[in-house]
Amino acid sequence: MIPEGSLLAAHDLRKTYGSTPALDGASFSVHPGEVVAVMGPSGSGKSTLLHCLAGIITPDSGTITYAGRELSAMSDAERSALRRSDFGFVFQFGQLVPELTCVENVALPLRLNGVKRKAAERTAREWMERLEVDDLGSQRPGEVSGGQGQRVAVARALAASPKVIFADEPTGALDSLNGERVMELLTEAARSANVAVVLVTHEARVAAYSDRDVTVRDGRARDLEHAV
Ligand SMILES: Nc1ncnc2c1ncn2[C@@H]1O[C@H](COP(=O)(O)OP(=O)(O)O)[C@@H](O)[C@H]1O
Ligand SMILES: [Mg+2]
Repeated sequence: MIPEGSLLAAHDLRKTYGSTPALDGASFSVHPGEVVAVMGPSGSGKSTLLHCLAGIITPDSGTITYAGRELSAMSDAERSALRRSDFGFVFQFGQLVPELTCVENVALPLRLNGVKRKAAERTAREWMERLEVDDLGSQRPGEVSGGQGQRVAVARALAASPKVIFADEPTGALDSLNGERVMELLTEAARSANVAVVLVTHEARVAAYSDRDVTVRDGRARDLEHAV
């Protein structure tokens, strides 16, 4: 059931909200270092799939396997620890902590993993340099532009050396020029660090940065490469 060599795989996921089926037998897999775009119209179940894969919500049925372990067999505490150690997140609106400076935001995942402040901020600054936002270290999120904020969010997602980054419409609030730069930097950085990316988007020009596309329709995921 689990495609050979995959890092994260879901099989036959179902999730219903009241009488609305959000996922209706969705399967998915991603290899280490692979960038996969999850495409599909609004309401098709993309975010629900991403949240299940990341262990944020529990599907009604189906299995999710990460690095050989089934997520459903873990305790809530184990899943939270896994999210902190192995996963990074980028959402449509950066979701940076407004009270912290940009460098403190980027350092946060490292601090949560027990890294001391100085070392965490040193690593944070290195990632900010790669994302071309190193000049924003002492600014607060409210003081930077949307595109800059998303690059800070990408730096934060990468800072703790995750194995997988989950990005849900990461450029959805940006104009196309800023969106493309964020995608370029995100995919370049992820590829060079061998980080897998699960990229949810409904925009074809964003999906163009992926290695492979999967389409979700009515809660079912279809791998385009194996479609015809
Ligand atoms: N927390 C929720 N409560 C109720 N319905 C939800 C919830 N989350 C998603 N849904 C419904 O599930 C379906 C899939 O939603 P979603 O995964 O957010 O789609 P997408 O990300 O592709 O736009 C939609 O019909 C949506 O209204
Ligand atoms: Mg969504």
